[in-house]
Amino acid sequence: MDTRIFRIRNIKDDFGQIKAAAAIIKRGGTVAIPTETVYGLGANGLDSEAVKKIFEAKGRPSDNPLILHVADDTWLETYCEDIPEAAFQLTKLFWPGPLTIILKKKDIIPDLTTAGLDTVGVRCPKQPITNALIRAAGLPIAAPSANISGRPSTTSFEHVFRDMSGRIDAIIDGGDSELGLESTIIDLTVSPPRLLRPGGVTAEQLISVLGEIEIDEAVFSRLPEDIKPKAPGMQYRHYAPQAGITVVCGDPMHTAQYIKRHAKERSGVLCFDEYVYMFEKCIAIPFGSSDDLRTQAEKLFDALRGFDDAEVTEIYAQCPPEEGLGLAIANRLKKAAGFNVVDLGSE
Ligand code: TXA
Ligand code: MG
Repeated sequence: MDTRIFRIRNIKDDFGQIKAAAAIIKRGGTVAIPTETVYGLGANGLDSEAVKKIFEAKGRPSDNPLILHVADDTWLETYCEDIPEAAFQLTKLFWPGPLTIILKKKDIIPDLTTAGLDTVGVRCPKQPITNALIRAAGLPIAAPSANISGRPSTTSFEHVFRDMSGRIDAIIDGGDSELGLESTIIDLTVSPPRLLRPGGVTAEQLISVLGEIEIDEAVFSRLPEDIKPKAPGMQYRHYAPQAGITVVCGDPMHTAQYIKRHAKERSGVLCFDEYVYMFEKCIAIPFGSSDDLRTQAEKLFDALRGFDDAEVTEIYAQCPPEEGLGLAIANRLKKAAGFNVVDLGSE
């Protein structure tokens, strides 16, 4: 399949290209879309045949539901039922933006989109190109992250091109993703609301609006074999480069020293900028200073992909504390590591 490339920098000047991409979506095709979190692999979320193509292109298990992307919160009532007031409190503060809300779905959404669940995740992306695309298409775009299933998510056009070229109808190059981590997912169909995946909207921010929330076990640890995760996607090893990862938690100086003691010549080290000098003999990729969570989030998936290119034998990663955006970064690292974690505590 020939994959068409749209290079869009400016919505006004490039509106013809947005319309052309919207036409592909409307006739049931697949288009990779830039968003502020990660790139998505989009198709008409109301069309089973179109949605099937997403699962095929990614090699995604069919029991893993997709998120619907809408243009604003007035679209919620068309696709969701029993919407609690809390949903609109959240959308007023955090939409457009990196927050997915799980609500009861209406029948208009095909079972394939939600993998047979009676709920649906809905998000309104802030990236102006994709927001304009959804409006131009006039329908909700179902989109998982635009990576081959199991690989790190895609945060640049180059990542998407490598994973998806030849597999989908088009890719929109809208530059790098601003945040670099997938959206926060909050389930509002249960009480108290349950945080299924941490992201750019932090647990602390959600608590300030919702009061109490529960954080799903799968955010911190591998679930036992017989327990079904609330977000089906949380059960798979994810975000993973080819080499195995050891995540090292604790005071940054201690984690750097621990890694220095264990790393070998072909080891990859994902480290904070201040400690890169300690790893000259290994293959080190710095991903931001220890106090700069924004940069760590932005660079994380590119760094994980970088270790594949460098053909490292194993990877050690310094992990930030699980507060604010750090909870999302730590979650992605631990999932990439299959929860292979060394915790040095606060010694
Ligand atoms: O930032 C994002 O959310 C990106 C961009 C493209 O918007 N999308 C994304 O999609 O990360 P994906 O498919 O890679 O991750 C969606 C996660 C999966 O773990 C899935 O199981 C969960 O959301 N999910 C989707 N619908 C759900 C539902 N109704 N109930 C529980 N979990 C759901
Ligand atoms: Mg994904």
